[in-house]
Amino acid sequence: MRTHFCGVIKEDLVDNEVTLCGWVHRRRDHGGVIFIDLRDVKGIAQVVIDPDTPSSFALAETARSEYVLSITGKVRLRPEGTINDDMVTGRVEVLVKELTILNEAKTPPFQLDDQHIHDDTRLKYRYIDLRTGRMQNNLKMRAKTVSELRGFLENNEFIEIETPMLTKATPEGARDYLVPSRTYPGQFFALPQSPQLFKQLLMMSGMDRYYQIVKCFRDEDLRADRQPEFTQLDIEMSFVDELQIIEQMEMMIRSVFSNILQVDLPKPFPRISYAEAMIEFGSDRPDLRNPLRLVELGDLMVESEFKVFSGPAASKNGRVAGLCVPNGVSISRKQIDDYTNFVARYGAKGLAYIKVNCLSDGVDGLQSPILKFLSKTIIEGILSRTNCKDGDLIFFGADNASVVNASLGALRDLVGEDLGLLEGDWRPVWVIDFPMFDWDDREKRWTALHHPFTAAQQDMEAVADDPGTAISKAYDMVLNGIEIGGGSIRVNDSTEQKKIFELLGISEEEANSKFGFLLDALEHGCPPHGGIAFGVDRLLMLMLGEQSIRDVIAFPKTQTASCPLTAAPSEAAESQLRELSIRVKQAKNTSV
Ligand code: AMO
Ligand code: AMP
Repeated sequence: MRTHFCGVIKEDLVDNEVTLCGWVHRRRDHGGVIFIDLRDVKGIAQVVIDPDTPSSFALAETARSEYVLSITGKVRLRPEGTINDDMVTGRVEVLVKELTILNEAKTPPFQLDDQHIHDDTRLKYRYIDLRTGRMQNNLKMRAKTVSELRGFLENNEFIEIETPMLTKATPEGARDYLVPSRTYPGQFFALPQSPQLFKQLLMMSGMDRYYQIVKCFRDEDLRADRQPEFTQLDIEMSFVDELQIIEQMEMMIRSVFSNILQVDLPKPFPRISYAEAMIEFGSDRPDLRNPLRLVELGDLMVESEFKVFSGPAASKNGRVAGLCVPNGVSISRKQIDDYTNFVARYGAKGLAYIKVNCLSDGVDGLQSPILKFLSKTIIEGILSRTNCKDGDLIFFGADNASVVNASLGALRDLVGEDLGLLEGDWRPVWVIDFPMFDWDDREKRWTALHHPFTAAQQDMEAVADDPGTAISKAYDMVLNGIEIGGGSIRVNDSTEQKKIFELLGISEEEANSKFGFLLDALEHGCPPHGGIAFGVDRLLMLMLGEQSIRDVIAFPKTQTASCPLTAAPSEAAESQLRELSIRVKQAKNTSV
């Protein structure tokens, strides 16, 4: 049908006859001559239709935005003054001999170059949204990146193996998407939250190095970097330790950044322990581009009369920390109120602050609603500990450590963005030495911080003695404040695995019914193994500078886990439900 793509028509084709196919990007009627910007997957070419070709001219007059055309004509240089060097094809145009309308198009619901279209509209008309240069580029980059990742893994002896989608629940911390079984009435498959157990079984099967680009399904609260259905690059290796996995994966990400973005990432990536990350950043996914650090102040505050500080300082689970913002005195009262409301979302009961106007004036050079509660010694301690300078502002958080970390950690990110403090483009970091368990105060039991198949650094006896201090062999790769991958060395002994289930409050009966196949397999020759999974969507979002993973997925779901394009989810026919032995109790139309 065509001889060339629109986006490649250049001077070397002058005087050649070409046939192009594409969409009408723009049509301009210049009194007697019609110009059409014709767009295809490779770009845009300008085609010119003049009245000397009357039938084509008549058709061109009816053509509107997004009509699909085929044109044949001769390439010629554009006249002086109409050259557009911003376009690859900007020095030439095609003088049309023959034009065919392959398909008409309704007036598009939005202009392709409009930057402010509501996401739901973009998703409803995704096939139009995907025509934009931005989305075309994103999907092409995605394909290229995935291909690069595959290439790296294949060169390193990894074997791609598919694992089932209709399977049993894998505990990764979200709700499952369930699929009813027709042949077993009342029973359900779960879509995988990850292929975790299958990849471990593959190591027990002697596959040695596995990878898979795989869809995972998690019914959880959605955010900009979370979709109910997303893609992992899932990896598992036998006969390795944490360091080998970390080094190999670092090499893979470095090679992708170098080959795709021409960016050299640091070698090696810095590593920081979970404990250190919490102390300095209040977060286990620190953005190292942000120079702000949390500063520990608890020990200074134990004796303070200010109960807001001394209470948490004296409590076992409490924390008092400061966040010194350079040149923060210019932050307005209103902005501080906004920040106070912001930290309240993370449970903070207030946001005390001190403005440091002039250090040499002593207490008189400071400005703060809490000065009156603090002794001179404490104030001096704060100033020296935070290493503040004239013009700085110090924020304070005092509460349970989890509240202080969450609130000051998030404030650190926000202030860093607001004040434009971020330094450097790409700051990867490994977070290591995670605790094995987290105490769930509501359910009064330990939960696995990573997943229950993660091995501990200590022996099982020590872990059982004091689960709260047990450290796992887990690691997360974090890039610019976003967790792009996480993994661990796994338990490869059934007695240990049973012990961990027991510590997690999973009864023997439950362990056998949910994970009996794993426990069995662990007794049939299981190599030491470990692995990692990367969020492909998140990686692409970062590489492309997008704010949401929706913009790197062809057909994503909305914030409320639905698809406006196909109107999924939708009701099932009565007959279908009957076959599945399912009766729907709830009233219809209960969309979220
Ligand atoms: P984890 O649960 O950390 O580990 O997931 C691995 C990576 O997947 C990405 N990710 C998501 N991306 C988009 N939407 C979501 N809802 C979502 N949830 C997770 C993140 C994350 O780092 N089986 C283990 C891996 C292992 O131990 O090998 C696992 O799934 O980038
Ligand atoms: P109050 O005595 O409650 O009026 O608080 C005095 C100052 O301390 C105000 O600026 C509050 O925002 C701040 N504040 C109160 N509770 C906390 C807290 N838990 N952490 C940090 N600042 C707080």
